[in-house]
Amino acid sequence: MPLPFKHLTSTKQLSREDTDSILEVCEKMEKVRSKGGSNLLEGKILANLFYEPSTRTNLSFATAMHRLEGKVITAVGMQFSSMYKGETIEDTMNVVGQYADIIAMRHPEKGSADIAASACPVPFINAGDGPNQHPTQGLLDILTIKKERGKLDGIHLTAVGDLKFGRTIHSVSFLLGLYDNVKFTLVSPKELPMPEKVTSFFKEKGIEYNETENLEDGLNADVIYMTRVQEERFENKDDFERLKLKYILKPEHVKDRDITVMHPLPRIGEIDTRVDELPNAAYFREVNNGVTLRMALLAMLLDKA
Ligand code: NCD
Repeated sequence: MPLPFKHLTSTKQLSREDTDSILEVCEKMEKVRSKGGSNLLEGKILANLFYEPSTRTNLSFATAMHRLEGKVITAVGMQFSSMYKGETIEDTMNVVGQYADIIAMRHPEKGSADIAASACPVPFINAGDGPNQHPTQGLLDILTIKKERGKLDGIHLTAVGDLKFGRTIHSVSFLLGLYDNVKFTLVSPKELPMPEKVTSFFKEKGIEYNETENLEDGLNADVIYMTRVQEERFENKDDFERLKLKYILKPEHVKDRDITVMHPLPRIGEIDTRVDELPNAAYFREVNNGVTLRMALLAMLLDKA
């Protein structure tokens, strides 16, 4: 099932048809995983370039590749890379594109993914560009919502925390917004609101949303998506300290409700660990879905699905 693009830099480039076809390939990949994997990507090499901290995304891409018998080469940390010496993103892509069949890159600057894709001779995947987008997390979130709630149409999602700098909530909002009768409640401190690029998309599509500073206003939803306050994006550390634990989700918020708790992780205290024992807690299942999603996407972008 080919996708109508070579590179994935933003969830804004995906149609509902594209998203549904990725979800379909995810179903096939779940069967592959239940048998321990396959040799679908044998002979293919993924380059993982991570110029910002990552545990999950980096290892999840590598696991996906290994499960399909592909190979992985990795460069981690700006200070150990040629970019530190002043190499441009374009030159890095031209070089790495001759080693690898596909490239995933995380970079601290918004827009770096588009620059990379424009120069990349092989398929390119944005693994996070500063506060902008993280499309594979958005897609694995959509896979998680579909699996946990059995549908995407009609979902009411409450997003909580740092909606300004949290790139994953931007990515998932554009995707869920492709479905019918969805609704958003946006809970954030007034300093960290959902950016205009997302709210203007809601307005354009006639999607119902409301903004509030109060966590309790968001509990009457199908999904509550908690986010970490993104310390690395703050200019003023006192502001971060003041806001970092403004919202803490506790068992009493969700235990008697039919609401699914999601979080892209890592958490720094915004979900009380006692929530982990509740059936509502889907964040570790989300991690597992990340491997399935990346297997599907790698296979599709390499024309093997
Ligand atoms: C997220 C990210 O990097 O944006 N982490 C992840 O990839 N799962 C969320 C975060 O760092 O807060």
